[in-house]
Amino acid sequence: MSCAVESHAYVIFGATGNLATHKLLPALYQLHCMNYLAPNVLILGCGRSPYDRNGWRDQVRKNLADAGIGGGEQLDGFIMRLDYLSGSLEDARFYQALAAWAESGECARNLVFYLSVSPEFYVPVTAGLAQAGLLDENHGWRRMVVEKPFGHDLQSARELQHQLQIHLDEQQIYRIDHYVGKESVQNLLVLRFANLILEPLWNRHYIDHVQITHAETAGVDGRAGYYDSSGGATRDMIQSHLLQVLALLAMEPPVTLEAESLRDEKVKVLRSIRPLDASHIESHAVRAQHAGYLQEAGVAPGSRTETYAALKLHVDNWRWRGVPFYLRTGKRLQEKRSMVAVRFKEPPIQLFQGSGGAAVRPNWLLIGIQPDDVVQMEISARLPGLGSHTRAISMDASVGESGERKADAYEGLLLDVIQGDRSLFLRYDEVKAAWNVVDPLMHAWRADPRPPLQYPAGSWGPQAAGQLFGRADRQWRQSLVCDGNADDQR
Ligand code: BG6
Repeated sequence: MSCAVESHAYVIFGATGNLATHKLLPALYQLHCMNYLAPNVLILGCGRSPYDRNGWRDQVRKNLADAGIGGGEQLDGFIMRLDYLSGSLEDARFYQALAAWAESGECARNLVFYLSVSPEFYVPVTAGLAQAGLLDENHGWRRMVVEKPFGHDLQSARELQHQLQIHLDEQQIYRIDHYVGKESVQNLLVLRFANLILEPLWNRHYIDHVQITHAETAGVDGRAGYYDSSGGATRDMIQSHLLQVLALLAMEPPVTLEAESLRDEKVKVLRSIRPLDASHIESHAVRAQHAGYLQEAGVAPGSRTETYAALKLHVDNWRWRGVPFYLRTGKRLQEKRSMVAVRFKEPPIQLFQGSGGAAVRPNWLLIGIQPDDVVQMEISARLPGLGSHTRAISMDASVGESGERKADAYEGLLLDVIQGDRSLFLRYDEVKAAWNVVDPLMHAWRADPRPPLQYPAGSWGPQAAGQLFGRADRQWRQSLVCDGNADDQR
């Protein structure tokens, strides 16, 4: 079950950073083990750290062994693919050295450049590569993987796009959103478009509302520099990952799974979202900061950056008009859990009662993204015994334990890059449409003299987030557990 693609080299800028250490190199190692990398594929780490080839090889060997994912002959084989080029990304001599390396005959003509560096380097690195002739596709393909954030607002995203376009064609740019690479997120497309049973119900006539949650127990953990100044929960998680999940849930069926068809449909959804502005900040948006955030190293004194955000969004199109989509995310919450919860409407007439005379619970479709990768449908069933009481039971449609190792999101995405498949990467108009949704809200919050709400670390965030529903029978769904009779806040 492997298929090595044509020879190429992966050039990773920021090779000693967190993303490369914990995600990219482990993912490439797994692709190596599954024989997805042709024998002559090389991986060149680039960075300021003064490693030589052997020094970096030793470091990567240690990192993979420490993480418990590498060992034996497979690891030896992988390590032989590694090389390292030390230098300053702002120095033209570095790119000349890189060009010399690429021409040295050790390496294939097809090159992937992975920008695993802080966003202010995206333009200088691209310009440096271009000046050294490394982006010309005369002798092989050249692809650039750009990590999020793609800009920190609409204006900066436009400028970045403008700068990249000077040197690269759109089809050379791979804007990565690792969330879209998660197995459970890709399963959204399968669930919706490989089955017929959901489609007739998948609209404003049957769906009451949709919730998308990404909750973390971790804090900013050493990333305060980025997070506090140009991140915050809304820009860091909602503008990218959660709006992508929304788009996959709400999009129309694509004509094919080919990249442009898929992205055409996603962008239509993103463009249909009603932007939130100052008139919505009371009723449609909640921002909060966890207690203790201001004491984290690297956070500016008095910072108003939100570590929690919850939004009520409307997708103003034929299918979804009137169905609220609730998105929330936060750091230092009670549980690490990401899930989608789709609540269906109630039957027009209640013929039955739940146990103890309670109202019959509405149906839910629950899609666990992490840590549980599950799909469950909650329906009402008759309770055994006399009478006609019902309780909610859960039908499990999860793939379950297939025995297969679950692939990390980066494995599939890195493979897509070398296979030239851009369907899971974001097109610029998607990024732009997503900034159009959150930008007015960020402006409104900046102009709001009130500080963000506070929530205790280890809680489920501020109480006010519950008020976004505006109805007592709608609440945040906290868990995947179906306990039959309890109210919705589980
Ligand atoms: C990143 C955000 O893109 O996604 C982080 O910058 C966040 O703040 C992370 O923690 C969440 O993704 P995952 O896959 O670790 O749950």
